[in-house]
This record gives sequence, structure tokens and C-alpha cells, in this order.
Amino acid sequence: MSLSDRPTVRLRPEIVALPAYKQGKPADASAFKLSSNENPFDPLAGVIAAVAAETAYNRYPDASALLLRERLAAKYSLDVDQVHIGSGSVALLAQLILAAAGPGDEVLYSWRSFEAYPSLVTVAGATSVCVPNRIDHGHDLPEMAAAIGENTRVVIVCSPNNPTGMIVTKDEFEAFMAVVPTDLLVILDEAYIEFVTEADAVSGPALLARYPNLVVLRTFSKAYGLAGLRVGYALGPVDILNAARSTAIPLSVTIQAAAAAIASLAAEKELLERVRIIAARRDATWRALTGQGWKIPAPQGNFIWLPTGAETTSVTAALSAAGLVVRPFAPEGIRVSVGEEEAMATLLLMCADLVDTLPVDHPARQLG
Ligand SMILES: Cc1ncc(COP(=O)(O)O)c(C=O)c1O
Repeated sequence: MSLSDRPTVRLRPEIVALPAYKQGKPADASAFKLSSNENPFDPLAGVIAAVAAETAYNRYPDASALLLRERLAAKYSLDVDQVHIGSGSVALLAQLILAAAGPGDEVLYSWRSFEAYPSLVTVAGATSVCVPNRIDHGHDLPEMAAAIGENTRVVIVCSPNNPTGMIVTKDEFEAFMAVVPTDLLVILDEAYIEFVTEADAVSGPALLARYPNLVVLRTFSKAYGLAGLRVGYALGPVDILNAARSTAIPLSVTIQAAAAAIASLAAEKELLERVRIIAARRDATWRALTGQGWKIPAPQGNFIWLPTGAETTSVTAALSAAGLVVRPFAPEGIRVSVGEEEAMATLLLMCADLVDTLPVDHPARQLG
């Protein structure tokens, strides 16, 4: 036994067994990073200036990011305490799970979905219950409703779903909420909502008044391009958000992150024009892939899902050799973030040939 793998202190075995958080692979200067669903546009000059103006590095930030909460409360016509800010929406997910679920409790979600869910549940000491995605890669909400038991404490619904890109419709969500016990916390994870163009998709904020057990999560990381500054928000009932606040690591949201988010809200029109460009690029790429013979779900986030199955590793390697760093989830598929125009052109060039390397009856190939 070497010094490095000798046990030192007694750790929780379920934590030791957790796989380390796998970040999207970095890309070298000649490659495109399409592995983390980041925004390919550079930050706006006004946002950079707002961050640069916050120079009180020697001071702690305002613990609740009140100014940002006020702006968001006004945007969504909510009370300021119905808004809670976190260092990324993943921090808010962790807080909400910790607040509601512990040992012996279950957290229910569709799978495959956001890769952070399983470890956040394990860290809380709770147990994950996963319901497989439908064959079309969307959430199977009736099956999820059927999986709710007396130990279920949290249900996570992800729309659009990372990594498959499928939305939950408003009708599906409302039918689901109608059968969910009102004392069971439902988290609607809308990290990619701004990219959605389908009119019948669910949108959480308007539903908050109807469901006292609903919390909506959104983020500045994706549409607003602030992934590196770490700021996301939860909208929901004050009692639930207060419980989340009690589990939070204090003072995690920096003054600079809050300032960047406030400046981004002020520049929303310009930023949402970028979102429109990314969504149009996504749709054009999806149409071209479909035209090549790929059978892939219509994407609604800023990423495309290639259900490459057993061929995931070989297709990933081919894309990587062409300078595209993507995110494989072997043996299910590959998530490709919608990045620079040039990256999408290379993707299409590669995929035109790669589709023919798949067996004729492969689920990612159209029949005939
Ligand atoms: C579905 C989903 N939720 C939440 C997050 C967390 O984002 P952030 O912590 O950057 O706000 C991500 C990030 O990729 C995501 O895909």
C-alpha cells in the first residue's frame, strides 16, 4: 500500500465512493470547447466594467445579494424574499436537497439528466430514485408520479433536460403537479430556459402562485454568459427558500458576481439577441444533421444530443481528432454544445461521414 492510498481518517464510505465531478474537457487553443454548455460569446463591455468597478476585495459581500434580489423580484413580480441567490444554480440545488432530504429519504429525477444530481443526493445522505427517460429522450412524468412514495422528499424536473435537450410541456407539468402531494418539494431546473423556442414548454415563474411546493431554478451561467462568475437564483415560497438559506455556505456569492448579474439584467435585450442567434444556430445544425440521416431529439437548450449508444467512444474520438471537444456519456450518447459557427460547420462535416459508420439499425440513424 503506497502512502497516498493508505486510509488516514474515517470518511463516509458513500462519499469516498463518489466519482469526482467530471468537468467538460478543456480544449487546447486549436480546438473548440463544446463540452460544458458554455456561451461562446465574449462578455459584454458593460459587464466587464461593472465587475471591474467592484474593488472592495477586502470586504465581505452582502450575504443575500439584496440588490440583485430586488432586480429579479421586480423582473418576476415577486417579493424580494421569494428570490434566493447562489454561487451557481448547482449550489441552490445542493441547498434545497440538503434542506429536504437526509438519510432514509429519496430524491426522484429522470435519467439521464444533469450529472450533478446523483452526487448532490448522496452528499445529503439521501437516496436517488431514477426514472428512465422516455424513448424520445424526454421526461416520463406519469412514471415519475408513479414512483413517488412515502420516503420521497424532492422531485427534480429538468426542462430543457441536460443532456437530451427535451422540454417538459406546460400541460405535462400541470398534469404532474396535480397528482404530486402538496407537501413534496418539486424543483423545476430551468438552467437553459432562455434558449427554448417551443411555445408549449413549461415556464416556472408564472406557476409559482399556483403551487406552494414549487421552486424554480435559473442561472446566469448559460444565456447570460457568466459561467465563470458563478451566480444563479431560486424563485419560490419563502419558507422553502429560508430552509435552503439555512444550509448555504455563507457569503459565497461575490460582489463581482452580483454586479455582473445586475449589469447583465440591464443589458438583457442585447444578451437575449445572442441567445436568439445561438438558438437559430442550434436549429440549423439540428436540421442539417437530420438531413444527413441522424435521428436526434429536437434540441431546446444550447446543446445537441447524439444518442450514439455503443458507438459513443469512437464518435467522440473522431470529433476530438477534428478539433471538437464534446461531452461523451458512454454508452448512451454525446452532448455537443452549440458553439462558434466554425465549430458547428466542422461538426456537420464530420457527422456527414460518421452517420454512415453507425449500424443501419442504430437508434441514432433514421430508418431507410
Ligand atoms: C440542468 C442544469 N442545472 C444546473 C446547472 C448548474 O449551472 P450553474 O451552477 O452554473 O448555474 C447546470 C450546469 O450545467 C445544468 O446543466
